[in-house]
Amino acid sequence: METIVVRGGAPLRGDIVVSGAKNAALPLLFATLLTEDECRLSRVPRLVDIHTTLRLLRDLGVEYDWVGDQEVALSASGVQNLEASYDLVKTMRASFLTLGPLLARFGRARVSTPGGCAIGARPVNIHLDGMQRLGATIHLYQGYVEAEAKRLRGAHLPLEFPSVGATENLLMAATLAEGETIIDNAAREPEIVDLALLLNAMGAHIRGAGTSTITIEGVASLHGAEHVVIPDRVEAGTFLAAGAITSGDVFVHGARADHLDAFLAAFADAGIQFAIHEDGIRVIGNSRPRGIPLTTLPYPGFPTDLQAQMMALLALGQGQSIITETIFENRFMHAQELVRLGADIQVHGNTATINGVAYLSGAQVMATDLRASVSLLLAGLAAQGETEVARVYHLDRGYERIEEKLSRIGADIHRAKAD
Ligand code: UD1
Repeated sequence: METIVVRGGAPLRGDIVVSGAKNAALPLLFATLLTEDECRLSRVPRLVDIHTTLRLLRDLGVEYDWVGDQEVALSASGVQNLEASYDLVKTMRASFLTLGPLLARFGRARVSTPGGCAIGARPVNIHLDGMQRLGATIHLYQGYVEAEAKRLRGAHLPLEFPSVGATENLLMAATLAEGETIIDNAAREPEIVDLALLLNAMGAHIRGAGTSTITIEGVASLHGAEHVVIPDRVEAGTFLAAGAITSGDVFVHGARADHLDAFLAAFADAGIQFAIHEDGIRVIGNSRPRGIPLTTLPYPGFPTDLQAQMMALLALGQGQSIITETIFENRFMHAQELVRLGADIQVHGNTATINGVAYLSGAQVMATDLRASVSLLLAGLAAQGETEVARVYHLDRGYERIEEKLSRIGADIHRAKAD
């Protein structure tokens, strides 16, 4: 088991580059199941979740090759196996995105249900309800979803909640359905837009991605395409928070302000200085942030995936902040670990009250999930003394070589073997 050791206090200074978005790359990789032609994706981050996805795709019969460091060529012409096993789905919930493409192209699929995870129950009822409306018969048997439909039929799909995963699964399924599908109350995340761009490049007819109503005119087949993954807005926000929390001066290359509206609005509210450039965003952290109220919401609201990072920042703010988490029911586990570093945070249900303190002090802490782990790392960058973050495998699921990237802009950080 590895840990990350951070010695806090150094203001970060310099340029840092954002990788391709994990949450965009995962559905894009699954989308290549929809065609027998080769697809090429570039700016694919080298992350544990990406390797898990590629392993799963290979298991189904997809052949792939890395072309250079960041590009993957995939061919799903030899897919024989239509089952995504529990072993892989349990380690990464996004594996459930095999359901839509397999069902649409091959007429059946058997996909393990993902089960809950640390941050919440995360059911898949919206995915399944949508597939049924598209004409699939669904059986739940021994922990697996068994789905069948000779050919899916276009339908009206009003989602009870704008679930990102369900929108992606249904969008992919509907591309090969017969007739028109309308997804109402669709998720509007930039990752949905990126997926629709690839699917349209593959020959799909999709309109309205990025709005609440997506219309898909089904086609008989899709063909190969090339696509560049969007930059990771969560990683970008994390680096901006790193600049701010260390009172540094950091230019985050590839950060797209149009994907970070709510996050930058929170920065502005908190009095954090930043400047938007064509090729990135610069943050100048020269004073403690002001306490602010913050509520996580579906896009374009404040992203739940940046809530933990913002909490670390506000823990060192002036005055009180109140964070309300509305997306996941159990996503405050980092709060108690931040308290170990000296933060003053009380959690009641889905609300955390943070009374800013003047300093944090290093301690041993434990990562509980991906974004929680990076918030501890951020706090460690600002804390006095040494912070050791255990269970960093969570971090490696979503951040590419984070300790290398941060040390290049002045962080005193390294990976160590745990005793
Ligand atoms: C995606 C992101 C994740 C992010 C989340 C919310 C990926 C790979 N992951 O996860 O990083 O935190 O969006 O922005 O892109 N729900 C249901 N029934 C369903 C589906 C979802 O009740 O069928 C609930 C979930 O339990 C959760 C909420 O809806 O409380 C949001 O889930 P969803 O938007 O589906 O998130 P994911 O796609 O799992």
